[in-house]
Amino acid sequence: MCGIVGYVGRQSAGPILLEGLQRLEYRGYDSSGIAVIDHDGALAVLKRQGKLRDLEASIERMPSGGVGIGHTRWATHGEPSDRNAHPHASSNGDVIVVQNGIVENYRELKAELHDELELAGRDWQSDTDTEVIPELISRELAVGRSIEDALISALSRLRGANAIAAVSRRHPGRIYAARKGSAGGIVIGYGEGEMFIASDLPALLAHTTTVHHLEDGDIATIDADGVTIQGAEREAFRPTPLQVDLDPVAIARGPYRHFMLKEIHEQPRALSDTIRGRARVDPPSALADDLALRDETLRGIERVLVIGMGTSLHAAMIGRWWIEQIAGVPADFDNASEFRFRAPLLGPSTLVVSVTQSGETIDTLGAMSHVRARWGAPQIAITNVDGSEATRMADASILIRCGPEVGVASTKTFAGSLAALYLLACRLGRARGSLSEADFADALEQLLTAPSLVDRGIGQAARCAEIAQRHNSATNFLVLGRGIEYPLAMEAALKCKELSYVHAEGYAAGEMKHGPIALLDGSFPVIALAPRGPLFDKMMSAIQQVRARRAPVIAVGDEGDDELATMVDDFIGVPPAPPLLTPFALTPVIQLLAYHIALSRGLDIDQPRNLAKTVTVE
Ligand code: AGP
Repeated sequence: MCGIVGYVGRQSAGPILLEGLQRLEYRGYDSSGIAVIDHDGALAVLKRQGKLRDLEASIERMPSGGVGIGHTRWATHGEPSDRNAHPHASSNGDVIVVQNGIVENYRELKAELHDELELAGRDWQSDTDTEVIPELISRELAVGRSIEDALISALSRLRGANAIAAVSRRHPGRIYAARKGSAGGIVIGYGEGEMFIASDLPALLAHTTTVHHLEDGDIATIDADGVTIQGAEREAFRPTPLQVDLDPVAIARGPYRHFMLKEIHEQPRALSDTIRGRARVDPPSALADDLALRDETLRGIERVLVIGMGTSLHAAMIGRWWIEQIAGVPADFDNASEFRFRAPLLGPSTLVVSVTQSGETIDTLGAMSHVRARWGAPQIAITNVDGSEATRMADASILIRCGPEVGVASTKTFAGSLAALYLLACRLGRARGSLSEADFADALEQLLTAPSLVDRGIGQAARCAEIAQRHNSATNFLVLGRGIEYPLAMEAALKCKELSYVHAEGYAAGEMKHGPIALLDGSFPVIALAPRGPLFDKMMSAIQQVRARRAPVIAVGDEGDDELATMVDDFIGVPPAPPLLTPFALTPVIQLLAYHIALSRGLDIDQPRNLAKTVTVE
């Protein structure tokens, strides 16, 4: 989703802003822009629809000036166009703003400001909600307020969640940043005689690993020597920065053609890192030092609700399965965007587990705050981003240690979330006494095989590429699974949709004959997830029904399963796994199939159209 960068210092801001925006490209965007101010207050605003290369190509002469802000926009209000791209200036040109988030009451505010604009012989320059922000700030400056007070006052008028960065011609040596609600973060980076800001850490790492995260309600004034923050309580302070240990090399693509491919291959390591020190077999323990929820609290849990969106929702569905099977606790899953607007029946003995790789997905955060406000039930966040909003809202967090995920399609964070959910199920089962010590040790021992299951699944890359090539002109796919493989069928279909733009549906195989079977014919390939497990025979029946309609079948089953292999058109063998562990063996194959279909169609794999890495708008 939208990205923000900013710079103040001795160097020329323009190239630094452009380079920072490049590092945010993975978030997804449709236009971009920068604003640079020199020490005399001369302002240059450059913006373009399209990719960053279009913006760069349009710059005839890089503006001079050591202060600036930049933005990649993912359109919400107003089509992607040059005029709607950020930054946006106040009508008198004094204040320039970029925003992540939505000004929900922008229509009201535009109507309120309309007469003043008309009186001054000016008009709105864009169709965006953002443009009201510089206008509100500049109106406050005009009545003699300080810029900090003008920002506080302007932000108090906005409804919705907003992260903004601003510069002003009246104060040319500074940038300002503010955060209100959960529209994504703002990170401030410390250099020597220079300072940086960005919506995401990766945009800063080439310059500094000394950072400070803005909290909800913070307004920051940043000059080349440091930052002063007015917090939600409005007391001014100089924050103490943190040292982050993210390796810039970890976010480089290395020898891989795409970040997605790199991240698929990183899954065994991401799993090992997530499990390391948290799953011990002798004596058995799970998440012993990691979960800030005591066994007493876990013992009192009578029900678990696992929520998320997209791929994280599919992980939540598998988590539900493990919590029921391993921990023996009633469990449900829910789509966070639906849950937050319902009035479900929860209580203090319900544990709510939110799965969100970014920790900033607005619907998931909305659901978490719904839980907190309405029931005060204990909450756990499973996320890849330490310090993200989800970690702050939850009572306890499980960090999935996957390293930065740059490809828009979640891959290694899916695997990492699965490992965290499995560990949680084990811990919960043991704390409640529903899992015997021997079964606890056995379940943990099985989990320790997950990295190698994934690794062997990745070994099928060439086979996936060959099959994807053969089916790359299909316009539809049906993906079938049963039991624990049903959520994986949905994840496979999501990956096909988002990467290949192919219509794909994930279905519980038992549901197929209740409607979807009507679609099948010789041009409609079906992917069947069919490892040998308790429901294998039922999957075989579903495959027979598909074959009887002459639809081509691509089956993913256990290595060496000749009975299945000879029955279908294409077969991909994955390592046989215990019934609860099959998601680890199958995950890389469904990801690689979607990757290779997209590759053979020549699509933009790391930044699929219309998608954003972190969805911070409703
Ligand atoms: C997955 O490939 C998608 N990019 C998307 O569905 C994603 O999983 C969803 O937006 C949730 O994101 P989160 O895990 O950061 O909350």
